Amino acid sequence: MILLTGGTGFIGSHTALALAQAGLPCVLLDNLSNSPESTLEGLARISGQAPVFERGDVRDAALLDTLFKRHPIRAVVHGAALKAVGEGLAQPALYHDNNVGGSITLIRAMERAGVRRLVFSSSSTVYGNPALAQLPETAPLAPLNPEARSKVMVEQLLHDVAASHPDWRIFSLRCFNPVGAHPSGLLGEAPRGQTLNLLTVMAQAAAGQRPPLSIFGNDYPTPDGTGVRDYIHVMDLARGHLAALQQVLQTGPAPDTRHWVINLGRGQGLSVLQLLQAFEQHTGHRVPHQWAPRREGDAASWVADVTQARQHLGWQAELGPAQMCVDAWRWQSRLLGE
Ligand code: WQD
Repeated sequence: MILLTGGTGFIGSHTALALAQAGLPCVLLDNLSNSPESTLEGLARISGQAPVFERGDVRDAALLDTLFKRHPIRAVVHGAALKAVGEGLAQPALYHDNNVGGSITLIRAMERAGVRRLVFSSSSTVYGNPALAQLPETAPLAPLNPEARSKVMVEQLLHDVAASHPDWRIFSLRCFNPVGAHPSGLLGEAPRGQTLNLLTVMAQAAAGQRPPLSIFGNDYPTPDGTGVRDYIHVMDLARGHLAALQQVLQTGPAPDTRHWVINLGRGQGLSVLQLLQAFEQHTGHRVPHQWAPRREGDAASWVADVTQARQHLGWQAELGPAQMCVDAWRWQSRLLGE
């Protein structure tokens, strides 16, 4: 079995589905602090079987020991983390305790259980405000906030862990901007509280569920002046996690490198206006919007160089803006209908 921490989260739940459909059964661990238990129903309806779910916190060492004894776990996908940039600025100790402390507790439980195969969901926020048009994994890391710094710290921890024992195989996946939802409309982003991510805000504004979208800044050094990001469909991200898991599950002699850091993005940027136009074109719904000042801490452009993902994982994103917008709209419409 595969232990999937953060298993009811946005990336975690879609990854759980991809694993199940690839014949890799998993046990989901989540404290439900930022995702609803109803995610499990969505997973059951899509996959046809109820997921194995353990409610709990990745910082609970005793619980982790129990899980490794209760289930034949042979690898871990670690997605449990707090990821709201603003919240991290307000509560840095909470973010480091949860994201870094939780990873340390998990690693030590894995060592006690003799399980040394790990995929870690890292983030493109480790790059900070880059000057490069496309970001290779070798780009300098310049985390700008506690959430991003916690991801850099965990990657550095994993570098040392990988060197400590020949059995370790670790992939750290730097996820760019996750968007969209499962095409069934039964699974999607369902964070507690108001989400601030662009495509979800667009869909909610189009549904009249919130005030018009405020476009944060139109004077960035980008083609149309609005912020550019590498949006990646969450289904593509899930496939990327599956590809990395299949790599770490390989047996055979210890490779020289035991910790790989890989960007998961599309390798193409979209500006706020381009995504808004795609949304209106493909969903047929207008997005009421207004101009607003730049948002503190926003980078002008964030686009992945995805060469390593192709070379090391044999993976590349397949879904474009049309699918992202249609799936996000279907999910938001369903949430609205509930
Ligand atoms: C994208 C673009 C905004 C909202 C994300 C998430 C979070 C974090 C890193 C994860 C930017 C513009 C947005 C709005 C807007 N942590 N925007 N109006 O900023 O890249 O950060 O990734 O690891 O996941 O915060 O994504 O969706 O917030 O913004 O104009 O109401 O949309 O200025 O250019 P971002 P985002």
